[in-house]
Amino acid sequence: MSFPANFLWGGATAANQCEGAYNEDGKGLDIQDVLPHGFGLRTAEPTSDNLKLRAIDYYHHYREDIALFAEMGFKVYRFSIAWSRIYPTGEEEEPNEKGLAFYDAVLDECEKYGIEPLVTISHYETPLALAEKYNGWSDRRMISLYLKYCQTLFTYFRGRVHYWITFNEINSILRQPFMSGGIGTPKDQLTNQDLYQAVHHELVASAKAVKMAHEIDPANQVGCMVVGITVYPLSPDPDDILKVMGLDNDCYLFLDVQCRGAYPYFAAKRFEKLNVKLDIQDDDLDALKNTVDFLAFSYYSSNCVSADPSKGEPSRSNMTPELRKNPYLKVTEWGWQIDPKGLRYTLNRFYARYQKPLFIAENGLGANDVLIDDGKGSKTVIDDYRIAYMREHLKQVKLAIEEDGVPVIGYTAWGCIDLISCSTAEISKRYGMIYVDLNPDGTGTLNRYRKKSFWWYKNVIATNGEEL
Ligand code: BG6
Repeated sequence: MSFPANFLWGGATAANQCEGAYNEDGKGLDIQDVLPHGFGLRTAEPTSDNLKLRAIDYYHHYREDIALFAEMGFKVYRFSIAWSRIYPTGEEEEPNEKGLAFYDAVLDECEKYGIEPLVTISHYETPLALAEKYNGWSDRRMISLYLKYCQTLFTYFRGRVHYWITFNEINSILRQPFMSGGIGTPKDQLTNQDLYQAVHHELVASAKAVKMAHEIDPANQVGCMVVGITVYPLSPDPDDILKVMGLDNDCYLFLDVQCRGAYPYFAAKRFEKLNVKLDIQDDDLDALKNTVDFLAFSYYSSNCVSADPSKGEPSRSNMTPELRKNPYLKVTEWGWQIDPKGLRYTLNRFYARYQKPLFIAENGLGANDVLIDDGKGSKTVIDDYRIAYMREHLKQVKLAIEEDGVPVIGYTAWGCIDLISCSTAEISKRYGMIYVDLNPDGTGTLNRYRKKSFWWYKNVIATNGEEL
């Protein structure tokens, strides 16, 4: 058997992309409530064109949804807790009981079916009040506010949650400072000093959260998480290789701190070059020594880069404008290059450097789906393209385990139920194995339907990955 017997098969969602109920039961606004167009411009207040305000209304459908996850055989369910449901402005003395009660109820459902929860503490959901008052993570005071929130979660859910991720895709702050770090300063005006200071604050907060989680419950397993941006040189030109090295280092800067407990060798020179003088206080460097228990990452795609910006064709990936097309790869309808072997490569690359257990926290295909009658009185989607995408990626995970010896502990398919896309805030970019009847104009019954991939993934889990 190549996948270990206790392999954590499952799916992943984020509160802001599925819950809706954006102002119910005392929830405060978070930054997603003013981001109706994903990475696009923020609005002054929530607007009716923001699909996330209602999303798929998981807030009122979670029982039905978790029952469907259980039917697929999920061993693990990764979801995020919306910080502003627990601390509406981030600064209250006491948590919002109704917010805690909602996640209690979610955990009840998970327990009912024996599904292990994996909680993302912060998934692009900084309370808006903190973004506005402190300019997000650029302010050091965010550390204690985040730790207060963590303490509430670790204490309140002690014994019920054992797997935690401190920040979703922590390295994305370099490209998306508002969505990732709550930093409102327009990108073109944001100094490297402020940006990397925010990075430092998040890294310190994450490390302190790891320590706290272990102290509160030694059974807690805490992971970091990065966007697994996998880049290849566009050509064998040594300058392109160095370009790749630079982009890899963008990611290693975070992982080295979180997995090895200190800034890497190249950090000092990088900061010097960028004119950054980090304000490192008291016990910061000691705190950073609290490394994570596992390394989680998202993986969707790979890209090429070139030292010469005039070379290559821009890839339509919306991660960074520097990325170039790879002539060997096909793309999704959203222009994301499909590269299953890149996942095996990424697993090896991360394990070679860190020797931490790896968790594939996100992977999946965003596509336009067509709902049809299934001939049995219900509806379905024949999403062979999604099955093919997942199958090819899982084959590579299997090879990484079987042939290369990489310890992979889990795989959570992204958006296991259709939800609102992060980068474009659309519903039409569907990842789910469960279809949700929601239209781009916000109409729809919100009924849930099993896609063909639902049955396929159920069998994958039932055979522990032997039948892909
Ligand atoms: C990851 C995020 O970057 O990619 C998710 O953690 C997101 O929140 C996923 O949904 C897929 O991206 P998108 O833009 O297609 O939703």
